[in-house]
Amino acid sequence: MSQQKPNEVVEKIVSLCKRKGFVFQSSEIYGGLNGCWDYGPLGVELLNNIKMEWWKFMTYREDVEGLDAAILMHPRVWEASGHVENFTDPMVDCKNCKSRFRLDHLSENINSKKKEKAIESLFAELTNEEKISLSNIESLSAEEKFEKILENKTFSSRLLKFVNCPNCGTLGSFTEARQFNLMFKTFIGPVEDQSAVVYLRPETAQGIFVNFLNVLNSSRQQLPFGIAQIGKAFRNEINTKNFLFRTREFEQMEMQYFVKPEEDKKWYDYWKEQRINWFKSLGMSKDKLRFHDHPKEKLAHYAKEATDIEYEFPFGWGEIEGIHNRTNFDLSRHEEYSGKSLKYLNEETKEKFIPYIIETSAGASRSFMAFLIDAYKEETVNDELRVVMRFHPKLAPIKAAVLPLVNRDGMPEIAKSIETELRNYFKVFYDDKGSIGRRYRRQDEAGTPYCITIDNETLNDKTVTIRYRDSMEQERIKIDDIPSRILRKIREGAS
Ligand code: GAP
Repeated sequence: MSQQKPNEVVEKIVSLCKRKGFVFQSSEIYGGLNGCWDYGPLGVELLNNIKMEWWKFMTYREDVEGLDAAILMHPRVWEASGHVENFTDPMVDCKNCKSRFRLDHLSENINSKKKEKAIESLFAELTNEEKISLSNIESLSAEEKFEKILENKTFSSRLLKFVNCPNCGTLGSFTEARQFNLMFKTFIGPVEDQSAVVYLRPETAQGIFVNFLNVLNSSRQQLPFGIAQIGKAFRNEINTKNFLFRTREFEQMEMQYFVKPEEDKKWYDYWKEQRINWFKSLGMSKDKLRFHDHPKEKLAHYAKEATDIEYEFPFGWGEIEGIHNRTNFDLSRHEEYSGKSLKYLNEETKEKFIPYIIETSAGASRSFMAFLIDAYKEETVNDELRVVMRFHPKLAPIKAAVLPLVNRDGMPEIAKSIETELRNYFKVFYDDKGSIGRRYRRQDEAGTPYCITIDNETLNDKTVTIRYRDSMEQERIKIDDIPSRILRKIREGAS
C-alpha cells in the first residue's frame, strides 16, 4: 500500500465499499447526490458498531447521561449559538465556468509556482505603504504567504486577479468573496414564509445545551457530569470531498461535560486522553493518530482551548474529532436568548453559577472512514493477493461465517444449527458457495474475524475448525464451545 498514490488507495477503498456493500452513492440511479452517501448492509453494521462502542464507552459510566434530541429546533437556538451570524464560509465563484470554491481551501488546488507568480504580480502593483502593511508575512514561505493574503480582506480579491480558476484555467475570473451560511433551511408548517423558517441542525451539541436543566433535574446528577448524544447533522458544505470526509449529511457523536469553571483544565486534559485512547483501543494504528492543538489566534469564538484528534488519511492528516473547552459561552447565550436561568446551584455552598463545558465532538462518518482505511490491507499469500479488512472484532460487521465444506453428508444440517445458535449473539453469514479458499477470501474482504468450517471430522467427533482472519491459523474446537470462544475472542480483540 505504501507505494500507491493517495488517490489510488482511496479509489480502491471506494470500489471495495461498493462491491462489498459498505457504502453506495446516494440516489445513484439518478446520477447521485453530491455530498451524500448511503451505508449498505456491511456499512450499516460497521457504523452501528462504531456508534455502539462509543455509546458504551461514553455513557456506561455514572457521570454521563444519554440524550436524543430532535433534529429540528427552535430557530432562536441558532441565533443564540451564533450559527445564524457566524456559521459561514467565504466563497468565490468562477465567472467563466461557475465553479464555486471555499476561499480558504482555494490554495489546495493551486500549485506552488502559480502561487509564487500570483504573489509577485500582486506585489508589483502595490504601493510602498501597502507593502509595509504586509511586511508581517515577509519571512513566510510562498504557500503560507498565499494563504495569509487570501485571508486578508483588503488584498484577497486583488491577489485573485492573478490566479487561474483550478477548474477551467481562466485567469482572474473570480467574484468577490461572499459569506455563505452552511445551515440548510426549511419551513415548519404549511406556510413557507420567513416566520416558518427552521434549520436542519449543523451540530448535535445545541440539543444538549438546551436540555441541560431537564437532564440535570431528571437524573439528579451533580457537577461534573456529561450528556452524550449521537445523531445526524447537516451542513451545506461548498466543496464536499474525499469520499466520506466532508459530506453534507453526516453523523456526530458528541458529549458535553459540565464542570466547575476552576476545574476546566483538569477535565479538558482528561477527555483528551480518554478520546484518543478510545480510537487506539479499537485497533486504530497509533502512529496514524495525533493531536493538533489550535493556536490561540485560530480558536473558535466560543473556545478557550481546542484540539483536534487527527488521523493520517492517504490524502494527509485530517480531523476526526474536536475537543473544546467551550467555557460558559453556550449556556450564557441560551440564558440570554431564552430568558430562562441556566445556572447551577451548588447545594453545599449555595453558590449559583453557569458551568463550563468541555466538549468531545467526533464524526461517526469520519471515524467510519478512518477505521475503514486503517483496516484495509493488501497481502501476498501463496503468490496471490489477499485483500483483508482487519477490523477490530468489536467493529467487524459480521462476526462469524459458517461454512459447510460440502453440501451433503449431513454437513449443511449441522452448519445450519450452528448458524441458528450463533445468531443469538451476533451477526453471522452462511456461505456454501464455491471452494473453501474462495469463501475465506470473501470473508477476509468483509473483515469477518472468525470462519467456522464443518467438515468430515465434524460428523465423527462434533468438532469444527475455527479460522482466524488475521493469522489465517486454524484450530479445532467443540461445537458446544463455539459461542463462548468467539465471544471471548471478540472481547480480547483477537482475530
Ligand atoms: N459541536 C462542535 C462541532 O460540531 P466540528 O469540528 O464542526 O465541531 C465535529 O465538528 C466533528 O464532526 C468533526 O471532527 C468531524 O469528525 C465531523 N464533521 C464536521 N463536519 C463534517 C462534514 N461536513 N462531513 C463529515 N463529518 C464532519
